Order: sequence, then C-alpha cells, then structure tokens
Amino acid sequence: MNRLQMTSAFVFVMLAACNSHDGMGGMDMAGHGAGMPAAPAMIAIEPWTGTLETPAANDKSPASDVVEIDLRAAPGEVEYLPGKRASAWVFNGQLPGPAIRAKVGDEIVVHFTNALPEPTSIHWHGMRVPNGMDGAGPAAPEIPPGGSFDYRFRALDAGTYWYHPHVQASAQVDMGLYGSIVIEDPAGPSLPVAREDVLVLDDVLVDPSTGSRATADEMRVQMMGLEGNLALVNGRRSNVELATRAGELHRWRIVNAANARYFRLGISGGTLIRIGGDGGLLPAPEKVSEVLLVPGERVDVVARVDSPSSTAVLTALPYERAGGAGATASIDLVRLVATDAPAAVAELPPSLRSVASLGASTMSRTVTLSERMADMRTTFLMNGAAYPDVPTLEARLSTVEEWTITNDSDMDHPFHLHGFFFQPDGRNEWKDTINVARRTSVKLLVDLSPREGAAGAWMYHCHILEHAERGMLAELRVQ
Ligand code: C2O
Ligand code: CU
Repeated sequence: MNRLQMTSAFVFVMLAACNSHDGMGGMDMAGHGAGMPAAPAMIAIEPWTGTLETPAANDKSPASDVVEIDLRAAPGEVEYLPGKRASAWVFNGQLPGPAIRAKVGDEIVVHFTNALPEPTSIHWHGMRVPNGMDGAGPAAPEIPPGGSFDYRFRALDAGTYWYHPHVQASAQVDMGLYGSIVIEDPAGPSLPVAREDVLVLDDVLVDPSTGSRATADEMRVQMMGLEGNLALVNGRRSNVELATRAGELHRWRIVNAANARYFRLGISGGTLIRIGGDGGLLPAPEKVSEVLLVPGERVDVVARVDSPSSTAVLTALPYERAGGAGATASIDLVRLVATDAPAAVAELPPSLRSVASLGASTMSRTVTLSERMADMRTTFLMNGAAYPDVPTLEARLSTVEEWTITNDSDMDHPFHLHGFFFQPDGRNEWKDTINVARRTSVKLLVDLSPREGAAGAWMYHCHILEHAERGMLAELRVQ
C-alpha cells in the first residue's frame, strides 16, 4: 500500500483503536499525526418549560400571492445556555432566521443584505427555484460583504424546506445562518392537529462555563464533520417541556440543520406517525418506531401522548454513522406532558395525497461516494475525484434518470441534489436528501421535469458540510 494512500478501512481501524483509549491519546499514524478523539460528550440539559415558536418573516407585500421579506445576515448574539450570551451569525438578529411561510403558487421575494465580514449566498434547500436563484453553482452569485441581492422565485411544491448559505457553508451554517420554509397546499387535506410547529434541529459545540462557541478538534472534524455537545431545537437548548392532553395531535415539521449530526428520532410514552418528508406529504400516514433524519433532510410527523398524566419524549437515539467512530448518547429533544384530562381522539385521514410514480428512466448512472487519505489529510470524493475535478454529468430536461448512489466508504453520507426531486426506488415520496449508509447503495429515480429556469448547472453533494468542502461535491448540467 502506498504510504500516502491509506484505505479508509485502515483509517477506521485507527479510529476504533483510538476510541477505546481515553480518546485523546497520541496514537501514531504512519509516524506522524495524532489520535482521533471521541465525539464530544453532550451537556446534560434538565427539562425546562418553554416554547417552540420561531418569529416569522414580516411579509411586506399587500398582495395575497406574494411573500416579500427583508433578510439580513450579520454578526449577532444568542443564548445557547440560559443567561450566557454568545456571539453568532444570524439572519435578522434571530436564531433560527425568520420562518418563511407561503402557499403553492406564491411568488417569494427576498431582499437579502450581507452584513457579514465575508462573502455569502442563500441556498433554498429543496426548493425547485430557477438556476440563477439557487444560491449555489456557477449561475448564482456570491454576495460580497456589504452587498445585496434580490432572490425571486415561485413556490412550486408543498413541503418543508430550509435556507442556508452555500459559501463557506460549514462555518456559516454552524455560526447560526439557517431558517425554515413551509409551503402549504391550500388544496391539501386538513389535518385534525391541535398545534403545528417547525422544529429546526442543530448542534453546537460550546464551552459549558462561558456558553460561547468552543473550538473543535481538527482531526475529528476532518473525518466526521463538526459535531456539537449541545443539541438545539429552534436555536434553544433541547428538552423543552410542552403541555398537552392525551390523544391530542402535534404536527412537527422537523429539519436537520446540523453540519454533521444524524438525528435518529424515536418517541417514548407516545405515538409517532410519519406523514411527510422533504417534498410534502406521503400518500398515507405511517406509524413509525423511529425516523433517521440526516443533515439537510426533513420529516413531517404527528406525535401524541397516549394516556392521561403521562409524558412522551422525542429523543435522538444513538446512531453509529461510521464504523468505530462511536455512537452519540441519547438526547431528549422535546417533552409532551399530558394533563389528567384527555382530549377527544383525533384521527388522521387514511390517505393524504396521491404521489405520481415516475415513468421509465431513459438513462442510468452510478455516482460513487468514497474517501482517500493522502498527506495525512482526508479527501472525500464524488465519482473518484474531488470537486472541482469531478467531471460534470450532462442530462436532458423532460427525462427520468435512474441513479445508483454507491457508498464505497466506511461512513454514512447524506446525499443531496439541488434543483430536482427524486423518488427512492420503490417509495412513493418526493425527496432531495437521502442517507447512503456505509458500504451500501441506494437507487433513485430523478425527475428532470422542465420548468422555468430548470436548465443550468446544479450541485449535488454530501450534506456533511465539511465533506462537501473537502471534495464530495459535483455538478449536474441539465439542458
Ligand atoms: Cu442544503 Cu447544497 O445544500
Ligand atoms: Cu459525507
């Protein structure tokens, strides 16, 4: 084996060995390099009473089919831990940024100003916007410090989306630049839910004594992406307690905005029903025992407490996303505390919407995810090369393509495609982000339907933001 080309399997043996030490020991790697530290230990958070509310964007347009907002990215302050101010980068002074809500068919206009000390952009994750409005790729401009840009696009698809920078994304998203978007379908079913909330999940690495952002171990970040020691739900510490009644339905549209953390969501003391994913509702509700939510991905669920005077807890369960890299501990995210008075049982409709099956594909491709260790630095690869050296895929509008995403590495990678939805083979659901577990493949049917602004170069990449920046990113040119 070439000394500079160690296989990932070897790296993971190293990783496993290091984790069985105290995690900080100086393992020698080929004569240089240090040991791989374990994942940061989570700060324990006691249940606290609060809210899931995120202030909405102020719609300046009087027209009922236009949502027009001002958005400004700037340094600001937040409180990750109660009473402790920490500096962050935020949209409109808040974390998450203002919640955007619109209906299918609405025009969305965002007057964006960059008050950060570096260039940025906004990517509308999951939304089928025109190519030049995507905030990523050759056609979409980077906005310099002090600059501004008007993003304009139409809301084409109901669903739960989010927005975040696509320039220096690992740093800028970690600093707090993200927000949610909900597109409602006025023709969709009305659901008998007592409350609906968006839950934007994130994690941040903080110094428990000061509450400010702490510096992560570079070697761990290089392999695993940046992981925090404090889980955030809508910008606040997790484990918030909400009052409910047994039987009452809570709809949660959940977004994973973390750089790298996988949230394997489960509920104890209650029931969890999955009703939708990235691009809107499923054909029918499905009761689930858990849902894996990878970075960039969204899920729409309904949760309830089953019996009076009991509590249901939405928990992130341990998930080992890399062999030997260590699983995280369980993290309590949200508690539903039921009073002794039950509510009348609310039932979801048996069918939610019809999702068309895609026609036969006219093109099959394989996209390979892998990693390479060279010069003691890990590079993550798309089709065997690191961006920008990955050959661009060429595709035609009005076709359906079958993509096999093959993960040849020893860690999971969340695969994300800009500009178009896909359906995982055999699943009647619209998605733009999907986990590809280590050493497995997933098959996707990619819908290249035409629309205004669909032609152009679109990015696809791993949504562990550090992996994308270390090469696991490429372009699809559609004409
Ligand atoms: Cu959410 Cu290319 O990203
Ligand atoms: Cu990755």
